[in-house]
Amino acid sequence: MAELSTDQLLHSQTHVWNHMYNFINSISLKCAVELEIPDIIYKHGKPMKLSELVNTLPIDKLKSQCLFRLMRTLIHSKFFISGYWLTPSSRLLLKDEPISMAPFVLGGLDPIMIDSLSRLSEWFQSESPTPFAFAHGKDFWEYAGQEPSILNCISNKNMVSDSMLVIRVVMEKCKQVFEGLISIVDVAGGTGVVGKAIVDACPGLKCTVLDLPHVVDGLEGSENLVYLAGDMFDFIPSTDAILLKWILHDWSDEECVKILKKCKEAIPNDKEKLIIIDMILDDQKGNPEAFETQLFFDMLMMGLFTGKERTEKEWAKILSEAGFTSYKITPVLELRSIIEVFP
Ligand SMILES: C[S@@+](CC[C@H](N)C(=O)[O-])C[C@H]1O[C@@H](n2cnc3c(N)ncnc32)[C@H](O)[C@@H]1O
Repeated sequence: MAELSTDQLLHSQTHVWNHMYNFINSISLKCAVELEIPDIIYKHGKPMKLSELVNTLPIDKLKSQCLFRLMRTLIHSKFFISGYWLTPSSRLLLKDEPISMAPFVLGGLDPIMIDSLSRLSEWFQSESPTPFAFAHGKDFWEYAGQEPSILNCISNKNMVSDSMLVIRVVMEKCKQVFEGLISIVDVAGGTGVVGKAIVDACPGLKCTVLDLPHVVDGLEGSENLVYLAGDMFDFIPSTDAILLKWILHDWSDEECVKILKKCKEAIPNDKEKLIIIDMILDDQKGNPEAFETQLFFDMLMMGLFTGKERTEKEWAKILSEAGFTSYKITPVLELRSIIEVFP
């Protein structure tokens, strides 16, 4: 320690404590969503005083000063401005908005998720394939199949809001990716939110949404959209294009190559293509918050699945191992990119 100056020691102490208590940001955000603070302020229609917020919230009225301290933390983390009013980030937490991130916050901070990641060091010393399996005794998808009420709520609800945002951006900024296609299979397409948005935006395009039986059984398709219950490791129907939105990061390189080979069998011609929507890990974009968020997602993939977030080099490797010859990256989604891949 002798070589460290007192300034360095104090700064390091702050750094350790800041990281140690970083979870306070997460739980404060979760508390705001659970109490529906963004919705209450928004419905008020104008900046809301502390006393008005205390009187409207279903809380113990003696906790007014505690609410003030919660709001001060949330103002610091840019979810509200003093007054109190919303920022663009808390508008994204309004629960009735179709692209609300509120289910994401509640799902991502559910004890099932937190428990998986809170015993990482024990997991490292075990032979368990994932921290999720270490904590819960079975892998994520098996758990989701057996506890649909819990995990459909955690994963599918999140996917719906995210899909609505992603598809809005894609249709606004690069609709040409889908133009000219006659058929598309949305592999592991969840409950079909993206599939529906694509067929609505591209008249004449027919979409098949393939996902596990417990996700798609009982869902009703339409003239241009059909659901197919199945396993993407076994069979993908032949088509003009395949969409893999937020899928490959759930799986290891070996598993991705298996999925990608199945995709290649379904699109053998060079006029056909694979459309991947996923992250490309990149610390060179000069956006530290975006890169840190990508690292968080990478750790989450390690915590829940056998997957990971990949650099462009890692993407190129698995695509080439599966037999694809070229790809084109369109980085329009801040954290994620569209990767068009050609046989
Ligand atoms: C992260 S979600 C993404 C859903 C959708 N692509 C989206 O972005 O909204 C992953 C999906 O993979 C599906 N899935 C997992 N294993 C699968 C398999 N072996 N075959 C087909 N779908 C699978 C899950 O049921 C889930 O809907």
